[in-house]
Amino acid sequence: MESNGKFEPVTTDVTTHWEDIFCERCSAMSSSIIREILKFTQMPDVISFAGGLPAPELFPVREFEEACVHVLRTAGQQALQYSPTEGFMPLKEALAERMQKYHVPCEPQNILLTNGSQQALDLIGRIFIGKGDTIITGKPTYLGALQAFKVYEPRIIGIPVDNEGMQVEALEDVLKKEKPKFIYVLPNFHNPKGVTLTFQRRVNLVKTAATYGIPIIEDDPYGELRFEGEDITPIITLHKENVLYLSTFSKILAPGIRLGWVVAPQKIIKKLVQAKQATDLHTSTFIQMITHDIVKRGILKAHAKEIRKVYGERRHIMTDSMEEHFPKEVKWTKPEGGLFMWVEMPQEVDAWDLLDEATKEKVAFVPGSVFFPDETGRNTMRLNFSNARPDLIREGIKRLGRVLTRKLTS
Ligand SMILES: Cc1ncc(COP(=O)(O)O)c(C=O)c1O
Repeated sequence: MESNGKFEPVTTDVTTHWEDIFCERCSAMSSSIIREILKFTQMPDVISFAGGLPAPELFPVREFEEACVHVLRTAGQQALQYSPTEGFMPLKEALAERMQKYHVPCEPQNILLTNGSQQALDLIGRIFIGKGDTIITGKPTYLGALQAFKVYEPRIIGIPVDNEGMQVEALEDVLKKEKPKFIYVLPNFHNPKGVTLTFQRRVNLVKTAATYGIPIIEDDPYGELRFEGEDITPIITLHKENVLYLSTFSKILAPGIRLGWVVAPQKIIKKLVQAKQATDLHTSTFIQMITHDIVKRGILKAHAKEIRKVYGERRHIMTDSMEEHFPKEVKWTKPEGGLFMWVEMPQEVDAWDLLDEATKEKVAFVPGSVFFPDETGRNTMRLNFSNARPDLIREGIKRLGRVLTRKLTS
């Protein structure tokens, strides 16, 4: 019988047990603990150093509005249509030009536009990781990468990260015994540690990886956010045949547009394109065209300059406040760019207990253990310095200092 629009919902005695239907792979999926902490930070009066959020008051909202209107008026039909998986060609050309200025050797055909770098991480997992395959990451490393890769059920070997980035010297011993699918590295202003891989270590990394025939994934969302010191040659520039380079508009423009890109040898781009096609056909045509308009009008360059200035000021305010309010046993990194700094407390302090205390003082951070593949590092925490305004940074660090002092003197 055909429905005429009025019908009774079907009721039966049988209930579907969805938990039994989820496939085995689902057990490797989890929601990010940071998202859980962020729920708390939405509450009034809470000062949050937890998220990886850019400063919203700097978003070029008016420029986006102008770009939207311009794209719709001049190429509205194209902007609302399906488009190639590889990405909008004029944006790829503009990106190739930008990348070349940044000394990354690439042509438009080496670029794939993605739905943020996060999608690139998933696609990389999809094409390279089979169940039980070994991969190498830093220890700690970006939580979202762990989440993306873990879906494909790899065995993760973590290489320690110190103040000069990943301890590349430790790689050789691992590679003598293991044949990982890739080495995942954060070269600039590491998330969560804020540290930068030195030039010498980049060279050593490239040499070691090439000796053992292991590709490198260079994830670089923060490279253009250097507010002090000198840029260091990207890893891909040292050996473009063996490196996949990832970057994103999230931190230099706005994360809500969900637009990132991969630079890789064409053979890899082709496989990533197939994987992306199966996932979402292509990244939003409209968003790519708007972003191209913004890049073409020089807004990105000016905007990046402004955020470097503001984030540099905020980093200084945060470290100055820490000097003033944190007990002397507590140590922290002093990043020359990016969004995050890393705090190490005496071994006996558990950052999760500290977070409980901190929430009572209405200040939040992310306990560092979530960034370790083996969930060690319980005496560490990550602080974001880009999102809160200066007065809130000062007040938040003062509150955190109080909590730390209580903990260390109790
Ligand atoms: C190291 C790293 N890679 C990738 C991403 C994901 O960025 P996107 O917003 O482009 O997906 C982030 C976001 O914080 C990050 O810190």
